[in-house]
Amino acid sequence: ATGVLQDGLGRPLHDLRISVTDRCNFRCAYCMPKEIFDKDYQYYLPHSALLSFEEITRLSQVFVQHGVRKLRLTGGEPLLRKHVENLIAQLAGLRTPDGQPLDLTLTTNGSLLRRKAQVLKDAGLQRVTVSLDGLDDAVFRRMNDVDFPVAEVLDGIAAAQQAGLQHIKVNMVVKRGTNEDQILPMARHFRGTGVTLRFIEYMDVGATNGWCMDEVLPSAEVIALLQRELPLVPLEATAPGETAQRWGYVGADGRHDPALGEVGVISSVTQAFCHECSRARLSTEGQLYTCLFADQGWDLRTLLRNGSSDAQLSAAVADIWQGRTDRYSELRSQLPPSEAAPRRRIEMSYIGG
Ligand code: GTP
Ligand code: 5AD
Ligand code: SF4
Ligand code: SF4
Repeated sequence: ATGVLQDGLGRPLHDLRISVTDRCNFRCAYCMPKEIFDKDYQYYLPHSALLSFEEITRLSQVFVQHGVRKLRLTGGEPLLRKHVENLIAQLAGLRTPDGQPLDLTLTTNGSLLRRKAQVLKDAGLQRVTVSLDGLDDAVFRRMNDVDFPVAEVLDGIAAAQQAGLQHIKVNMVVKRGTNEDQILPMARHFRGTGVTLRFIEYMDVGATNGWCMDEVLPSAEVIALLQRELPLVPLEATAPGETAQRWGYVGADGRHDPALGEVGVISSVTQAFCHECSRARLSTEGQLYTCLFADQGWDLRTLLRNGSSDAQLSAAVADIWQGRTDRYSELRSQLPPSEAAPRRRIEMSYIGG
């Protein structure tokens, strides 16, 4: 089953985001608030529920047949999954129908990156995205809520650069009143280093973070703030359906200076990008979700474990994608806040950011 698969709104399937663990050593309040994810939390998946590396690789191959060109490992914290480099090595061996390797990447909190960067690179990882919500140690320790020092994440980023991982990105979730004072210091720090910093609007994902619109700082305000000190010009998208809008730093000649690099803004609250969304998400236990805000997934693990053939798996994936009409963020922004009320929602740490 090759050929271009389209969903119910004409969108192709391009990215597969694979969650490899629902656990994390951080407790960011917007994702795994400590009051809920405490020592009594009972809903972590048992080992037997997790897809094995062979199962993940087999499924990924099926997705590649349907057009997937980018694989991203997420979590929870993906580097907590034991021997995740073995999974990377298997995925690095996959090829598109015309023989090309895939864009293979990973989103990490950076805490284990200093130790693991070289092993990941050697296994075939091409690039990496690190989450980092501030440069000030006190602010960062408060945001990760486990008192983790910023210096170790910065060391992890340096290790990733040294290991030769390409196109390193840093994701900063911006919460109004919590870390907005870190926007400029973060921009100054990463400008000209080859690392692309991206500011993410705080999203209403999951049901435990107590999200409210007052804590969202719209990307337009982030850009306006940066512009006052570090002039920027808009850049073209590199791929359709990209999450981030790109802005380039301006040099002395008034034009984008590639040596200074760029920043991105991910505005899923104030400027939803569902119309081009080409991302599918595979949970740690093999449920397929066609939207970050979906309230139910499709159980692929049962198919993997009941003797289904690759052709049967492929047909199931095609059916699911063709039936997809999700556009949660666009619908939410069309409703008054009172009506955009939460439904049952899946936690980000489970579905994979
Ligand atoms: P690149 O290929 O490096 O551009 O990665 P990416 O932006 O696709 O992935 P990343 O993991 O860096 O995600 C950045 C942020 O965008 C995270 O907060 C994600 O949760 C959010 N995000 C990614 N995809 C979607 C999506 O389909 N919908 C929404 N609402 N948010 C998304
Ligand atoms: N809103 C926006 N981004 C979030 N992330 C986790 N939870 C949220 C949220 N509620 C981010 C992480 C990471 C990425 C995968 O998702 O910080 O950078
Ligand atoms: Fe962990 Fe990332 Fe969630 Fe923070 S945002 S708790 S680092 S999975
Ligand atoms: Fe895609 Fe759903 Fe995000 Fe919209 S809200 S961009 S459909 S994942």
